[in-house]
Amino acid sequence: MMLKKNKTIKLLNYYKLINYNLIYNNKPINRYKKDNYEISGNKTKSLENLKKTIINIKNCDLQKQAKNIVFSDGNPKSKIMLIGEAPGANEDEEGLPFVGRAGQLLDKMLLAINLDRKKVYISNIINYRPPENRRPTDKEIKRYLPYITKHIQIISPKIVVLLGSTAMNAIVGNDIVISKMRGKWIEMKFGNYKTSVIVTFHPAFLMRQPAQKKMAWIDLKMIRDKKIKLNI
Ligand code: URA
Repeated sequence: MMLKKNKTIKLLNYYKLINYNLIYNNKPINRYKKDNYEISGNKTKSLENLKKTIINIKNCDLQKQAKNIVFSDGNPKSKIMLIGEAPGANEDEEGLPFVGRAGQLLDKMLLAINLDRKKVYISNIINYRPPENRRPTDKEIKRYLPYITKHIQIISPKIVVLLGSTAMNAIVGNDIVISKMRGKWIEMKFGNYKTSVIVTFHPAFLMRQPAQKKMAWIDLKMIRDKKIKLNI
């Protein structure tokens, strides 16, 4: 009996070793499997051009002091685009948005509605880290606004999620407060491109004010429902 068991284990190990799927599987192997992120040549080119344009900005102190441009993360094919404020130290180091503690919370928020970075696209209003993580000035926001507007047009998402009051004030307007604006769908035009926009709290704010997480959860459920409604 023991001998038979040993033999079976050996056989299973052997199958694993030779990757038996390759031999016994009926399905053909797709050696040309498309990367999920593959986007049309035009979109790739437009994103590259936009990134180059931002890198070529002249006389910008933010750019001079930053280590890296923080352009985006996630799937450019996604129909859900999240926009934060500006990179922090971790993001500046890695050249990717939301990789620090706020980013970890953002990942959890996304997971709560069955999303992750492969299913969304993430950027910021400002592409370079403001020193000491200060809030970007109105002048800086004004300077970078055309780039994020263009970025939205290129990605053409069906849902834009604005994370926090800086993103909200930059995109929706200055004379509004987040407590009144969050959790509402608004239709907005970016150039000729029309899309649905929702404001929610920034994850860094939620870390400071965890009691507000229940409101953020309401917003997340609205995003989940919209996603279903739009068949995204
Ligand atoms: N906060 C933001 O708004 N954006 C980031 O990329 C990181 C932190």
